Amino acid sequence: MLLKLKDTTTKDAFRYGYLLKKMYPYIKLVLSRSILLFLLAIPLGLLDGVVAFSLRPYMDFVVNGNELQTFEILGHTFKLQAFFLKLIPIGIVAFALVQGLLKYICNYLSDWTGNKMSNALKVDLFKKLTSMDTKFFDVNSSGIVLSRFFTDPETASRDLINTLKGFILAIFEFVALVFVLLFNSWKLAFIGIGVMGIAITPVIFIKKKIKNVSNATMVVGGYMTTNFNETFAGNKIITAYNLQESQNNKFENQIHEQFDLKMSLTKRVGWMSPIMYFVCSIGIAIVMSYGNSLILSGEMSAGSFASFVTSLLLLYKPTKSLGLTLTNLQTTFVSIARVFELFDLMPEIKNAPNAKNMKPVTSGIEFSNVWFEYEENQPVLKDFSLFVKANETIALVGNSGGGKSTVVNLLPRFYDINSGSIKIDGIDIRELDIKELRNNISFVFQDNYLFTGTIKENILMGKPNASEAELAEAIKLSHLDEFLGTLPYGVDTVVGERGASLSGGQRQRVAIARALIKNAPIVILDEATSALDNESEAIVQKALDNLMKNRTVFVIAHRLSTIHNANRIAVLNEGELVELGTHNELIEKQDGRYKYLYEMQFGGNS
Ligand SMILES: Nc1ncnc2c1ncn2[C@@H]1O[C@H](COP(=O)(O)OP(=O)(O)OP(=O)(O)O)[C@@H](O)[C@H]1O
Ligand SMILES: [Mg+2]
Repeated sequence: MLLKLKDTTTKDAFRYGYLLKKMYPYIKLVLSRSILLFLLAIPLGLLDGVVAFSLRPYMDFVVNGNELQTFEILGHTFKLQAFFLKLIPIGIVAFALVQGLLKYICNYLSDWTGNKMSNALKVDLFKKLTSMDTKFFDVNSSGIVLSRFFTDPETASRDLINTLKGFILAIFEFVALVFVLLFNSWKLAFIGIGVMGIAITPVIFIKKKIKNVSNATMVVGGYMTTNFNETFAGNKIITAYNLQESQNNKFENQIHEQFDLKMSLTKRVGWMSPIMYFVCSIGIAIVMSYGNSLILSGEMSAGSFASFVTSLLLLYKPTKSLGLTLTNLQTTFVSIARVFELFDLMPEIKNAPNAKNMKPVTSGIEFSNVWFEYEENQPVLKDFSLFVKANETIALVGNSGGGKSTVVNLLPRFYDINSGSIKIDGIDIRELDIKELRNNISFVFQDNYLFTGTIKENILMGKPNASEAELAEAIKLSHLDEFLGTLPYGVDTVVGERGASLSGGQRQRVAIARALIKNAPIVILDEATSALDNESEAIVQKALDNLMKNRTVFVIAHRLSTIHNANRIAVLNEGELVELGTHNELIEKQDGRYKYLYEMQFGGNS
């Protein structure tokens, strides 16, 4: 399974049909307007040809015209020269009007369709992102996620529309001008078009290079964004450890890497345009010398030649943009391939086919012979077995890195175990409806994430449809009421990003209120008071006591009081359960692990 996003293969980047089929549901959303856009691009493309075409009569009848030449319409006789002289000013204004109008409508339509399509992709990708497992977020950096889930869909859809529009414009511009060329002299036209054909061939050879560079640019760009995010989120650590310089260096290196990548593409693509220009100039030189002889021999009029040369010069633009369109289209397809790689990501942890409803815990939670590893062949839990009775409070203690957090992360299925089983009242948690399972567990961590918004909104995340009375109760039990009373906006106070405007203890109590209002029968406390001083701990502890009442509780703590209050203590060492019993039982064990840890941490003065 593809988990690490930077390892993208984009193996599908050249399978255009396959990718378009994948894109089709999104294209369908904007289909009628895209067709209208592409239809309007046709006359817009033809307009250049009109200019070149009208040069011939203009030159022949106005500049070199014979004043006496006449023609007849419906019995009226017109002087040809005078007629053209009158027509031209009107023609110029009408032309500009039509061209402007068409351009406006086309731009409007391409923005509308491109953005609609890219938005639909982004919404679906966001859903994909929120459905992913914890593991996915462990291994991918935020910057890569941002570029893959946000920037790629823009390229994939907006650029697709714009490139196709450009392609149609260029094709019709090309066709119209070629028509004018053929109309004026087919012999000269063959020379001109032949040369143009040679000029655009190199485009075909640089496809692969574009794919590789575009991928590498995405990865570096992603790391740069991560760097920004980390500078933001970790600003205190950066300041405290004077890491500014190393952060700066990291960023500068990334900028350089990006520069090198861009330049490597420019080096390989940049020569195309001058070469094309050079080859074209040869074509024009041949046409000029051959054209002169055609005029002298009377085979071609001066107007016709002027019109021909103008078309040939104008032809350079659509030819070049056809070349560019091909390279742009390739970049677009690389993005489309990357986008659909994401849609193929499947969370490993999902509901069983006939997922069971979860009932209130009556008997207990049982871990039996659980083996678990984050990285292959590095087991973190080794044959871990533990039965926790309903409404029991069990404390997990042990060495740092011993696997305590891992044990509690397995219960809500943040990760799935490798072997063994975890059962609630005899039902394997993998058979339970995953949403219900998680609804039945509340979590309080050491560092609780608060979202941008009000305190009330943060608490209500535990139960969005809670009544005012439930909210008030949760606030009271979490001992937040006194603190909220001091705030001018009370519970409606806005907390900054990540809850930065609150103290550690206040944040902790908001998190406890969030857990309380959820009223889940299973409670997990992972170092919930470790970050606090004694005074805040006392009040947070009171809040926690309320949260723990009549529930099945897993508590990980270094603090004496919390461990004392637990019914039993499970001691983990390097992923194995080494001791289990009450505080009094374990402290009696000579050479026991708990006794050792206890004396280490608390100095034995219980
Ligand atoms: N997301 C992860 N990816 C890979 N390895 C991990 C991950 N989380 C934890 N580990 C590893 O698993 C082992 C157990 O970690 P765990 O967090 O369960 O320890 P702990 O007992 O809670 O430690 P502490 O008391 O320091 O919080 C450690 O060796 C750790 O490096
Ligand atoms: Mg831990």
